[in-house]
Amino acid sequence: MHTHTHTLLCPRWQECQNRRQAHSEKRERERERERERERERERERARERTRIYSGPRREGTQTKMECRENLVQWLSWILLLGGPLVCWLQLTTERRMLYGRYTKSEDRCLVNTKLVWMIQEVPSLLVPLLLLLSTESRAGVGRSLLLGTFCLHYFHRSFIYAWRTRGRPFPVHIAVKSFIFCGMNGLLQGHYQLHCAPSWQNPVRMAVGLLLFFAGLIINIHSDHLLRSLRKPGEVHYRIPRGGMFEFVSGANYFGEILEWFGYAVAVWSLPAAAFFLFTSCTIGPRAIHHHRFYQQQFKDYPQSRRALIPFLL
Ligand SMILES: NC(=O)c1ccc[n+]([C@@H]2O[C@H](COP(=O)([O-])OP(=O)(O)OC[C@H]3O[C@@H](n4cnc5c(N)ncnc54)[C@H](OP(=O)(O)O)[C@@H]3O)[C@@H](O)[C@H]2O)c1
Repeated sequence: MHTHTHTLLCPRWQECQNRRQAHSEKRERERERERERERERERERARERTRIYSGPRREGTQTKMECRENLVQWLSWILLLGGPLVCWLQLTTERRMLYGRYTKSEDRCLVNTKLVWMIQEVPSLLVPLLLLLSTESRAGVGRSLLLGTFCLHYFHRSFIYAWRTRGRPFPVHIAVKSFIFCGMNGLLQGHYQLHCAPSWQNPVRMAVGLLLFFAGLIINIHSDHLLRSLRKPGEVHYRIPRGGMFEFVSGANYFGEILEWFGYAVAVWSLPAAAFFLFTSCTIGPRAIHHHRFYQQQFKDYPQSRRALIPFLL
């Protein structure tokens, strides 16, 4: 009946019906295409947001990291102010770094010294390496070489020195502080070298700095070797160190280490490297003075001409 009425109103009813259907299908397809375009625009906006947040991607894994000026300044100033404070406390109040010969007898939280040296120092190696591998860096050959010297020192300290040391068990609280310091300083030096340092380095200054760095590294390793050879495995007592730079100073290993970071600061010529050099001098310098006094008190025949830290001077 219904079909019949339409047939009467429109003789070509079936044709009209088909046209209407085709028209509505066409509109539906257009709406679908418009929805698809809108979804594509939304995806593009999301991609844009990701690019702004992390920078353009390279080879699918590395993200670009901008220089965080504030972070560099803050961490450097913590070292620049903290170093002299630690030095002043150690020298005026007779506070010492309470490990090795100064470990308190009541300290019960002691752990294996080999393990401690590895764990507490390794952040200074791993943090720069992780930064290097995970972020796109502007570092050229010069800056990579400088960061390489920093990593070389900590590779030796974490895996070679740690494995060979014959020191007594180590207090956990010192290890925790050293671990935090090494992580923080690894971040500071690594981030600065990879993302902030100027691309041009003065080649003469770099060469002189690297020369001092390697001279210091050799003195430090040799002096630690001389100390180690004063003991047989299992022994914990102290003898007068002789040979090498010990003929001039009681803290020959510390003198070597300070020379290393002085050379590094000269080569890098930056606030973070200078801050690290100052902080190191302020922490291990007073320790050399304490060791010197310890030897003078323990050994009546301790060489008179030997100084504490700097040959002929201090
Ligand atoms: N960059 C920094 O801020 C920093 C800070 C600390 C240390 N370090 C470096 O880490 C290394 C070790 O430092 P440290 O403070 O442990 O040096 P250390 O007090 O001179 O002791 C070094 C090792 O030699 C032993 N030793 C020292 N004097 C001895 C003697 N007269 N007779 C027999 N054995 C002796 C110690 O044993 P005991 O453990 O039993 O005393 C220890 O195993 C050094 O190269 C130093 O430069 C760097």
